[in-house]
Amino acid sequence: MPPAPVQLNREEVEKQLSILWELMTPEDRAYLKVIVAAIVANGQPIRITIGNLKGGVNKTTTAVFLALLLAFTGENVLLVDGDGTNNSCLLWKLGAGEHWPTNLQVMAWGTPDLAKRIKAMEGQFKHLVVDTGPQHKGVLESALYVTDTLLIPCQSTPMDTSQLDPTFELAERIDAIKELASVVMFARAKKPGGKDTHLTRKSYARLAEKNRPVLPMPLYDNGKYAEAFPVFPREWVQYPEVLAEIVAFALDLDEVPQDPKKASLAEGTR
Ligand SMILES: Nc1ncnc2c1ncn2[C@@H]1O[C@H](COP(=O)(O)OP(=O)(O)O)[C@@H](O)[C@H]1O
Ligand SMILES: [Mg+2]
Repeated sequence: MPPAPVQLNREEVEKQLSILWELMTPEDRAYLKVIVAAIVANGQPIRITIGNLKGGVNKTTTAVFLALLLAFTGENVLLVDGDGTNNSCLLWKLGAGEHWPTNLQVMAWGTPDLAKRIKAMEGQFKHLVVDTGPQHKGVLESALYVTDTLLIPCQSTPMDTSQLDPTFELAERIDAIKELASVVMFARAKKPGGKDTHLTRKSYARLAEKNRPVLPMPLYDNGKYAEAFPVFPREWVQYPEVLAEIVAFALDLDEVPQDPKKASLAEGTR
C-alpha cells in the first residue's frame, strides 16, 4: 500500500523555508535564488538518481545536499534512501529535526521494488532524488526507470575512473528502453595547486577518451561535508554550484545558472 499522502499547509511550508533561508550565508542565498528561479521558470521536474556500482564516495552527501537545496523551490521533493545498509538519509532527517524542510519527504526503500513504490506516490512530489548503495544493482536499476538523470560521483583517480564501466553499461541498457542521461561528478579531488592534482587531470582525460560526460567542476576534498551530518548544513561549500550544473544538465538549459558574485567579479575585470 502506498503511504498516506502528506498534507502540507503551504503557508507553513513558506514560513519554515523563510527561516531556513536565513540560516544561509548571503552569498549562498543569492546564488540559490538564481538557481531556484531557473528551475521554477523551466517548470520541468528534476529527477535524479545518485549512483555508482563501485564502492562509495559521497553519494549520500550529494543526495542529501541536493535534495535540501531543491526543497527551496517550495515544491514537494521526495528523497528516496535506497541504501538499506545504513539509512543515512533517514538518520540525517532525524538529526536535522525542526530544520528539515517539511516539503522534503524521505522514504527508506532499499529494495528493487522502489520504482513501483515511487510511482505509487506520483502526484505527491515534483522533484525526486534517489540515493543508492554501491552493491545493489537491482536497486540502482529500479531507480533508473523512474529518474531521467544519473549522477555518478566518482573519486578523481585513474583507478576509480576505470571502474565506471558496469555503471555506464547498466545506464546504457536502461537508456535503450527509456530516456536516461548519465554524467560523472569527480569527488574528493585535491584543491588546485595542491599535491595530486595531476590525478584529477588524468581522470578527466580518461573520461574524455571514452566519451563519458562529466560535470566540469570537481568536488574538492573538504571536511565541512562530514561536519554537516546529521544536521541542516550551515556551509554549502560547492553544492550550490553542483546543483546549478546538474540542473542545467538535467533540464538541458542553454546556460548554467551563474553565481551572481562570480558574475559581478567577471564584470569588474572586463
Ligand atoms: N567532498 C568531500 N570531501 C571530504 N569528505 C567527504 C566529501 N563528501 C563526503 N565526504 C565524507 O566521506 C564519507 C562518505 O560519504 P558518503 O556521502 O556517505 O558516501 P557514500 O554514500 O557514497 O558511501 C562521509 O564521512 C562524508 O562525510
Ligand atoms: Mg551512502
